Amino acid sequence: MLSPLLLTLSLGVAASSSPGLVLLLADDLGYGDPGCFGHPSSRTPNLDRLAAEGRRFSDFYSAASVCSPSRAALLTGRYPTRSGVYPGVFYPGSRGGLPLNETTIAELLKQQGYVTAMLGKWHLGYGANGSFLPTHQGFDQFLGVPYSHDQGPCQNLTCFPPDTKCYGECDQGVVLLPLLKNNKIIQQPVNFPKLTPLYDHFARDFILRATKQHKPFFLYYASHHTHYPQFASADFTGKSKRGPVGDALMEFDGSVGVIMQALQDAGVENNTLIFFTSDNGPELMRRSRGGNAGLLKCGKGTTYEGGMREPAIAHWPGQITPDKNIGTGRDTLSPFAIVFDH
Ligand SMILES: *[C@@H]1O[C@H](CO)[C@@H](O)[C@H](O)[C@H]1NC(C)=O
Ligand SMILES: *[C@@H]1O[C@H](CO)[C@@H](O)[C@H](O)[C@H]1NC(C)=O
Ligand SMILES: *[C@@H]1O[C@H](CO)[C@@H](O)[C@H](O)[C@H]1NC(C)=O
Ligand SMILES: *[C@@H]1O[C@H](CO)[C@@H](O)[C@H](O)[C@H]1NC(C)=O
Repeated sequence: MLSPLLLTLSLGVAASSSPGLVLLLADDLGYGDPGCFGHPSSRTPNLDRLAAEGRRFSDFYSAASVCSPSRAALLTGRYPTRSGVYPGVFYPGSRGGLPLNETTIAELLKQQGYVTAMLGKWHLGYGANGSFLPTHQGFDQFLGVPYSHDQGPCQNLTCFPPDTKCYGECDQGVVLLPLLKNNKIIQQPVNFPKLTPLYDHFARDFILRATKQHKPFFLYYASHHTHYPQFASADFTGKSKRGPVGDALMEFDGSVGVIMQALQDAGVENNTLIFFTSDNGPELMRRSRGGNAGLLKCGKGTTYEGGMREPAIAHWPGQITPDKNIGTGRDTLSPFAIVFDH
């Protein structure tokens, strides 16, 4: 399934013309959540701008309706049943992970001279001594959480500053949620209100440094938003008209803005493909604490449209013209491949 990408990459795109690649993945964000997909009270000005300038996919499907299999397909281009990351998700105590012999997008791009980094939620295994972490799957650098941020007790943690505790209890009887830099734990439990600013700083620095070194770059930013329990930094707390989910979504949208600004400051906005989608549909059982599938039936965990059909946007000024298209999470790099084919 990655063959179009392989083919076009192996045609030998000169290093200097290799575009920057940014893959933005939201978590449990539904088809109806972004403003540009019709939500009346979400505030997503940066996603809306990507959509207006680029291509908004109205029929883009994830390969699974829950996190780990969907992400396995996204990064490998293979059905989750083939990699074996199926049908459920990894837990803090899971021994397995995405098999190391699977080929990820990051591994392919590294072979082409790209520098690669992953930010945010991994959820494709931890492994003994961190053997399934992103640094073993093609990413030069990793800053993030190895699984979902509700997979650790959260009832005593602050989700919104100054001191609004996380809503609910999350998973009990497992370790407190760790934040990792590459394979090392640098914080435990995670400080939620300070997390996204750390990611934003990292993303900006990564893009500026790579372009300064004239290296093509691949940034995979898998946000924790808008998965339960929602959280946000001070800049976004109470700023949306849509409560905690709206604030969390706004913080994600803010990261999109930071990345767009970094691309512009580095002078590479016209040589960078940004692709945005979500891992699966909204978790409807959380009611107003979950996302919104718009007019689609059901949500996360189901194979109805609401569980699998995702908002998606491709943006590359001058290369991608506003239009609609069809795709799936297995084809994530098809849009990348289409433009490589140019
Ligand atoms: C990876 O190894 C497993 C176990 O040997 C095998 O079943 C699977 O087909 C391999 N996957 C790939 C992509 O080679
Ligand atoms: C993990 O690393 C430690 C220290 O390097 C080593 O002793 C141990 O055998 C490793 N465990 C596995 C399962 O690789
Ligand atoms: C949460 O705080 C309460 C009260 O301080 C304490 O009894 C409990 O052990 C804490 N739970 C966790 C998971 O840290
Ligand atoms: C990028 O392209 C747009 C129009 O497509 C143009 O206005 C802008 O100046 C270009 N930016 C750079 C840095 O070349």
